[in-house]
Amino acid sequence: MTDPDLIYLDHNATTPLAPEAWEAMRPFLTENWANPSSGYRFARRAREAVQLARSQVAALIGADADEIVFTSGGTESSHAAIHSAIALHPERRHLVTCATEHDATLRPYDELAAHGYDVSILPVDAEGRIDMAAYEAVLRPGQTALVSLMWANNETGLIHPIDQAAAMAHERGILFHTDAVQAAGKVAIDFSQSRVHYASLSGHKLHGPKGVGVLYVKNTARFRPSQLGGGQEAGRRSGTLNVPGIVALGAAAAAAQAHLASHPGAVGELRDIFEAGLRQRLTGVHLHSSQAPRLPNTSNFQLEGVDAQGAIILLDTRHICVSSGSACATGSIKPSHVLTAMGLASRPARETLRVSFSRTTTAAEVDAALDALASAVAKLRMTRA
Ligand SMILES: Cc1ncc(COP(=O)(O)O)c(C=O)c1O
Repeated sequence: MTDPDLIYLDHNATTPLAPEAWEAMRPFLTENWANPSSGYRFARRAREAVQLARSQVAALIGADADEIVFTSGGTESSHAAIHSAIALHPERRHLVTCATEHDATLRPYDELAAHGYDVSILPVDAEGRIDMAAYEAVLRPGQTALVSLMWANNETGLIHPIDQAAAMAHERGILFHTDAVQAAGKVAIDFSQSRVHYASLSGHKLHGPKGVGVLYVKNTARFRPSQLGGGQEAGRRSGTLNVPGIVALGAAAAAAQAHLASHPGAVGELRDIFEAGLRQRLTGVHLHSSQAPRLPNTSNFQLEGVDAQGAIILLDTRHICVSSGSACATGSIKPSHVLTAMGLASRPARETLRVSFSRTTTAAEVDAALDALASAVAKLRMTRA
């Protein structure tokens, strides 16, 4: 059982499984374990459930069901998109991305750079935004194989103008991929109206299970698969389907869509209450990316004079989970590449926390977290003085 006192405010790391998702997947872990690709009647229910999940995910992002390819998660989806673009255009040796992307994009781009690709990494301003004129200037028709630009940033929640960026790439005959892992289920997405060719989604970021995701492939875009074998997913991603995971992801997508429609501003209101409370109770608070379009569930802020790792430990003793703007790499604390790209020096980055909410967060949890944070900050500032 989950710790009954747990206050989980790290929903950009992962989310709890929605009850609807668990109910939907359970029969496919127990009595209905058929391979959906088999021809007999016993497999029909699994096949139909996968098709339902495909339309549920498609409905969440304004896609057609046949534009949905199930994968093992966001990382695989982004790899598949990148691989497809370079395989379709082997003569094009230029790639575009942004400095604040997730490592699931940056690391494969690094690998391609090591193999001779010319990679343009767009810088960002202090809010995390790219300059659209600079973006336009790096596009090279006939040479750029792919642009990969995330819909929303996992640390700050910053939202890039994806439809505009995709249209600019499309006009120049350039494939466009977006990592929409953090956006799907949190903000409205309508790929039917956009020029995005490929997009990555991940089940566990929207109250689905871990280890399942989606690659959206626009039906007018060409695609070259990287995972070959039995030809599942219309030849776009071979491998026996993860039926329970897919079915749960479908149910989670439907639940997210229903919540977005019925309570459009609810998560954002909680985040705003949290940020107002922060400013009221504490001095030296600097919100990041708050002057730019951002996800309604994410708050990223520096607390002057407060070591974020220390705050995380103190909050943890009160069963509160949040994360920081730095990561422990080989024993030393390394500021996040996202904050560094936004121009933050090492100290403010080490004083940065990320708090991320979801539809399961309550106002009482927000209050309790503010109390705990205020006392942790007082303690940490006192020991420092
Ligand atoms: C923006 C972003 N892209 C990609 C991923 C990776 O997704 P997955 O864990 O499904 O491989 C994550 C997960 O942290 C993410 O936040």
